[in-house]
Amino acid sequence: MTQVVPDITLVRGDITEQHADAIVNAANSSLLGGGGVDGAIHRRGGPEILAECRALRASHYGKGLPTGAAVATTAGRLHAAHVIHTVGPVWSREEDRSALLASCHREALKVADQLGARTVAFPAISTGAYGWPMADAARIAVEAVRDANTHVEEVRFVLFDEEAYRAFAERIRSS
Ligand code: APR
Repeated sequence: MTQVVPDITLVRGDITEQHADAIVNAANSSLLGGGGVDGAIHRRGGPEILAECRALRASHYGKGLPTGAAVATTAGRLHAAHVIHTVGPVWSREEDRSALLASCHREALKVADQLGARTVAFPAISTGAYGWPMADAARIAVEAVRDANTHVEEVRFVLFDEEAYRAFAERIRSS
């Protein structure tokens, strides 16, 4: 199968309402839930997701999922086959962690390819609790998707508010 540059689409809304082959979670390294996207996915997706996250911690990820890495579980009751959990970097003024944020997108797409997923919904990773400035996160996210060698056909960024939507739309328009 030829590799494609995914179509990038933008949606203003709640990622837990998306219909897609895979939904990406802005997780933390514990994989045991949290607030924001993480909280919404576990709340709407149900306990099976956490059960599989716990199994991952007990098997491959004893020390937790590293920042920039990605791993899949069931999507439970969400309108998707899989949730792909990834851990974004916390924004830092002193240290440039852009490569880790790009890695979240690249690794999530690699996992999507392993699953045969063709449509993948991403939130704006690291731009909430992890404090990453929205415009810079949009730049990194769109570039990482554009540079990815993947069989995924659609990458859908699901933006929760107007500021995020505008930042991603501006980035897509200007690049
Ligand atoms: N659908 C889509 N986007 C959402 C939703 C939702 N239901 N809820 C929040 N967002 C947006 C936020 O507005 C923000 O722009 O997702 C972006 C990422 O915010 P967070 O969920 O806070 O994720 P992040 O900044 O990566 O921080 C991860 O927060 O929830 C905890 O367990 C998580 O410790 C981890 C940390």
